[in-house]
Amino acid sequence: MTSTKPLRAPDLPAMKSRGEKIVMLTAYDATMARLLDAAGADVLLVGDSLGMVILGGTDTLEVTMEDMIRHTRAVRRGARRAFVVADMPFMSYQASIEDAVRNAGRLLQEGGAMAVKLEGGGPVTATVERLASLGIPVIGHLGLTPQSVHFMGGFKRQATTVEAGRRLLDDAAALEKAGAFAVVLECIPADLAREASARLRIPTIGIGSGPDCDGQVLVSYDLLGLTSETPPFVKRKADLDRIVLEAARSFAAEVRSGGSP
Ligand code: KIV
Repeated sequence: MTSTKPLRAPDLPAMKSRGEKIVMLTAYDATMARLLDAAGADVLLVGDSLGMVILGGTDTLEVTMEDMIRHTRAVRRGARRAFVVADMPFMSYQASIEDAVRNAGRLLQEGGAMAVKLEGGGPVTATVERLASLGIPVIGHLGLTPQSVHFMGGFKRQATTVEAGRRLLDDAAALEKAGAFAVVLECIPADLAREASARLRIPTIGIGSGPDCDGQVLVSYDLLGLTSETPPFVKRKADLDRIVLEAARSFAAEVRSGGSP
C-alpha cells in the first residue's frame, strides 16, 4: 500500500535505491491534482505542456511565469501526498543565472512548487548548480526538449546516433554532478535510457524512452484520452473525450426538450 506521508525531494533518489518505480503525471489544476494524488501518483508535474494541453497552442513557448505560478498554486491546493514540480517556462532561465534564481524562487514562493524542472544539458548545468546550492531542488530534462522545438525541427525522437547518445550520457552525468536530484529522459532510444539509468545515482523518469527508466511520466490528458493527437508511445487508459461528449450531448438534448437537468 502507498504511504500517505507527503513526498519530499530526497524521497525520489531513495525510491531508486530501493528499486521502487516513480510514478509522475502532469497536472494543471486542483481538481485533477486531487484525483491523480488520490490514485497514488508520486509526483505531479505542472508541465509547460499546459501551453498545448490547456491553452491550445502548438508548442510550449508562449507559457509565461504568471501561467506557471497560477497553475502550480492550483495543483498544490489539490495535492496531499504527491510531490509538486513546476516547469520553468521558456526564457525564464536561459538568459542568465540571476533570471533563473529569481524565477525558480517565484515558483517556490508564489506557486508553492517543491522543485523546478528545466530543459537542457551542458549550457544549463551552471544554473542547476547555483539553484541546488541555494536549496532549490532541480529536475533536469534531456532528449526531446520541447522548448527547443524550432532548433530540433519538430517534436522528434532524439539521441539516435552513437555520438548524440554519448553526449546525452555526458549531459546526464553533468546534471547529476551539478546537483539535479532526478532527470526526465524524453523520446530517446530505450537502450540509451537503460544505460543512463544504470550509470546515474539519481533517478531517471522516462517518457517515450522504454521501460527501463527509474520512473515514468505522461501528460495526463494523453493518458486519459482527452487529447486529439496522442503520441504513439502513450497507452490510453481511458476515453474521457467520449464520456465528456456523451454527457454534454445528453445535457443539450434535455435542455432543448424543455427538461430540467
Ligand atoms: O511539460 C511537460 O508536460 C513535460 C513532460 C512531458 C515531461 O515536460
